[in-house]
Amino acid sequence: MINDASSAAFERAQALLPGGVNSPVRAFRGVGGVPRFIDRGAGAYLYDIDGNQYIDYVLSWGPLILGHAYPAVVEAICVQAQRGTSFGAPTELESELAELVIAAVPSVEMVRFVSSGTEATMSAIRLARAYTQREKIIKFEGCYHGHADPFLVQAGSGVATLGLPDSPGVLKSATSNTLTAPFNDLDAVEALFKANADQVAALVIEPVAGNMGFVLPREGYLAGLRQLCDQHGALLIFDEVMTGFRVAYGGAQAYFNVMPDLTCLGKVVGGGLPAAAYGGRREIMQQVAPAGSMYQAGTLSGNPLAMVAGIQTLREIAKPEVFERLTGVTSTLCQGFWKAAFKNGIPFQAHKAGSMWGFFFAADEVYDFTSAKRADTVMFGKFFHAMLEQGVYLAPSQFEAAFVSTAHTDELVAQTINAAQAAFASIRS
Ligand SMILES: Cc1ncc(COP(=O)(O)O)c(C=O)c1O
Repeated sequence: MINDASSAAFERAQALLPGGVNSPVRAFRGVGGVPRFIDRGAGAYLYDIDGNQYIDYVLSWGPLILGHAYPAVVEAICVQAQRGTSFGAPTELESELAELVIAAVPSVEMVRFVSSGTEATMSAIRLARAYTQREKIIKFEGCYHGHADPFLVQAGSGVATLGLPDSPGVLKSATSNTLTAPFNDLDAVEALFKANADQVAALVIEPVAGNMGFVLPREGYLAGLRQLCDQHGALLIFDEVMTGFRVAYGGAQAYFNVMPDLTCLGKVVGGGLPAAAYGGRREIMQQVAPAGSMYQAGTLSGNPLAMVAGIQTLREIAKPEVFERLTGVTSTLCQGFWKAAFKNGIPFQAHKAGSMWGFFFAADEVYDFTSAKRADTVMFGKFFHAMLEQGVYLAPSQFEAAFVSTAHTDELVAQTINAAQAAFASIRS
């Protein structure tokens, strides 16, 4: 595969942008090699500037559940662009998307739109602190909630990929109220609550972890967290930036039937444009300014282009048959990859929930960040490049999830599994 144009573009970008990118994991540091510079996307395909075609399982890190450049979404964006791209004044589009979100996500009664997942989670904990009049939060090792200071403790995603310590520049005072526990360990959370009685404002979690690789909650774990929060007067915040409209139309809370107090959304809710949201019980949301006194604002919040992209996307995926199909596709991929790895004698495991999936090069169960870090990242890097050579674009890090879209046909899935079979055979040593 020729990468001359990507190599030249990367060299140019490195002189202009730190590491040549605007978000760290895009730089391929976790797997080595030259990041592919993208020319365009269409359906399940990405095309790089050297003219190479890839079946895309990153999908802009989750948002593109309908695939690239889905005609109805593109059309809606074009129509809106002609009418104006930003007003800084309310539009009916915001209420239209809010109605769709509230109808879809069971625990959400009111919603505030922002422009990124980082803003959503940062605002949600400010709100939880305002509501409970408490200062501490509990987060989980390997979970990623965007790059706001209080969350950059034992964070997943790019922080895990680069093996970074908690980031320089984050003041100790900004994280001194952040307590951490291992994922899937209820006893550890109970101990934190007991040691910090009446001080914990909220517990924030990715209900299915997608930023330390893909890790499912154990049976009863989320319900157990709900119970502990109730017992100790803390709010339960589900960060569904990744899982929202992904593991089910109603998110992980619908999938596992556990209701948080606050929910953070992003990615799919903006249909590939920058929109995100936090929402929850009316009584809590009423504390957000100007209804209440918890201040949070944004010049481009509720941006009309992002609103129409979100509206169109949610309308398309609201049908139950869409999720049935997406779930079938991820099952086929997980089984296909696992069988191919097994045939080649490679320790491997793959899991899925709805349209989100992931795998580890590990023999033992991965259930938290420590066990995720035991997975073989060297093997992952080899597999990643072997897949890329065959035109399959996976996340360039072991510590990320994979996604599918409605554009991933059975034929493309079969082609991907054949590629995986060849990739496993080539990396077996
Ligand atoms: C679970 C989760 N929360 C928050 C974020 C931050 O979202 P954004 O990158 O839009 O700021 C991400 C990003 O990947 C995420 O996966």
